[in-house]
Amino acid sequence: MPKTKILMVCLGNICRSPLAEGILRSKLDDKNFEVDSVGTGSWHVGNSPDARSIKVGAKHNIDISHLRGRQLSKEDLEKFDHIYVMDQNNLDDVLEMTTTDEQKRKVLMVLDAVFPTEKVDVPDPYNGTIEDFERVYEMLEEASNVIAKQLA
Ligand code: 4NP
Repeated sequence: MPKTKILMVCLGNICRSPLAEGILRSKLDDKNFEVDSVGTGSWHVGNSPDARSIKVGAKHNIDISHLRGRQLSKEDLEKFDHIYVMDQNNLDDVLEMTTTDEQKRKVLMVLDAVFPTEKVDVPDPYNGTIEDFERVYEMLEEASNVIAKQLA
């Protein structure tokens, strides 16, 4: 059986989506699932996650220090089965890159898992405090619990 492939997407791929990748991966069996993350922007390609995301992850036993920034490509839209974005801007940017209805159907807001009808963003914590990163962690943890159950 091929692995089910899941992609987490944010703007920079250094704050939210690396945490989302680490959290969801910790809840899924790596024999059956592949989890990756990317940014819609290119500023942080090759960079480590933000030190605050690494710190909040480590506090919860999620090590994301080895991850490196990567930018979303057209190939990703074909390769991945499920694409979860953090906010409405990411959703618009990803949908703009899609070329087929099948690709469009793969793309969901990650918090749709918790608030299916409300279009809730995971707020960008880049200019915020460590408490903002902790709140991001908690939102992603809750969403990942639901997503892991849906996929398993
Ligand atoms: P992320 O946060 O999208 O959660 O990784 C950001 C990181 C960097 C920038 C914006 C958002 N930036 O503009 O460099």
